[in-house]
Amino acid sequence: MTEAGFTPRVFSGIQPSGNLHLGNYLGALKRFADAQNQGIQSIYCMVDLHAVTVWQDPAELRHSTRELAAGFIASGLDPAKSILFNQSQVAEHSQLAWVFNCVARMGWMQRMTQFKDKAGKNAQNASLGLFAYPALMAADILAYHATHVPVGEDQKQHLELTRDIAAKFNNDFGVDFFPITEPVIEGTGTRVMSLRDGSKKMSKSDPSDMSRINLTDDADTIARKIRKAKTDPEPLPSEVKGLEERPEARNLVNIYAALADMSVDQVMAEAGGKAFSEFKPMLADLAVEKLAPISGEMSRLMQDVSEIDRILGNGADRARAIAAPILRQTYEIMGMVGPREV
Ligand code: AMP
Ligand code: TRP
Repeated sequence: MTEAGFTPRVFSGIQPSGNLHLGNYLGALKRFADAQNQGIQSIYCMVDLHAVTVWQDPAELRHSTRELAAGFIASGLDPAKSILFNQSQVAEHSQLAWVFNCVARMGWMQRMTQFKDKAGKNAQNASLGLFAYPALMAADILAYHATHVPVGEDQKQHLELTRDIAAKFNNDFGVDFFPITEPVIEGTGTRVMSLRDGSKKMSKSDPSDMSRINLTDDADTIARKIRKAKTDPEPLPSEVKGLEERPEARNLVNIYAALADMSVDQVMAEAGGKAFSEFKPMLADLAVEKLAPISGEMSRLMQDVSEIDRILGNGADRARAIAAPILRQTYEIMGMVGPREV
């Protein structure tokens, strides 16, 4: 139980927008699987309603949603233990989002830096959904009374907004109904950088495919991308401190540590002083050993999408069983007339 008496519950969402990569795996999927295996109730959502805040090709959205689900399962998320579903199947997200549209203030929303970045110069032409996006995110989280939300650094402001919305709702109606959610921000240790530029995050939007390892890459492609990864000419230093001004070397060592479940110190004890001509093949072997089974399992799952759809449908039923009573209580608190089952 948290201090306010809420049962610990993890919720996170990922947009189904294609190209799952090593950064998503080490920064999100693998960590989610580790949390699940520690026995914390976990709910993971493919946020298709967030994706359509900018236009999506319907066939691609369908494919990406299933592929993301396959990525979760192949990374060790067990649909029997955790709840895996896509957002649009649980209408309570949209319904609670409307309530939060009425709680959040225009001024709060206008401060969201991600909206400004995504809308760019032509904000007048952005969708209303893109502006309201963080209120839907608050609804995703609070529909489950989630207490812990693992996300990347870029989502911190949206989580602060979620806390503000929960606090304002509680205050406006004199209740202690929505929990004040704890952000669980991914540490810099789990941030995977581009293989072409150690100062940039590995990202699905990087135009160079050589900058990232996709979870759908086969063994040869993974090995080739690591062989060609940018480095400096020096061998690895003998101590962690020697990596400070060497972002590309640091990145490859971090990736090795994360894939091997080792600390950076342990990696340096094993590989310190080695030339990249020796370290890169070690890393390539390790990456292939860890990632090839994931890409293999993803492609196996994608051959039978009816099984994925069944898993998502089942997850949606279990998600709804949690969210529906919370929405009904929210409506009740606000004075909406309706069935009273709670
Ligand atoms: P995105 O694909 O950017 O929507 O991110 C989905 C999830 O993957 C989020 O939890 C991010 O924090 C995580 N993620 C994305 N890129 C990286 C990266 N380069 N390193 C670590 N985690 C990442
Ligand atoms: N906005 C998040 C992102 O782009 C995705 C997201 C939607 C999310 N709803 C969420 C993350 C709820 C955590 C909790 O990464």
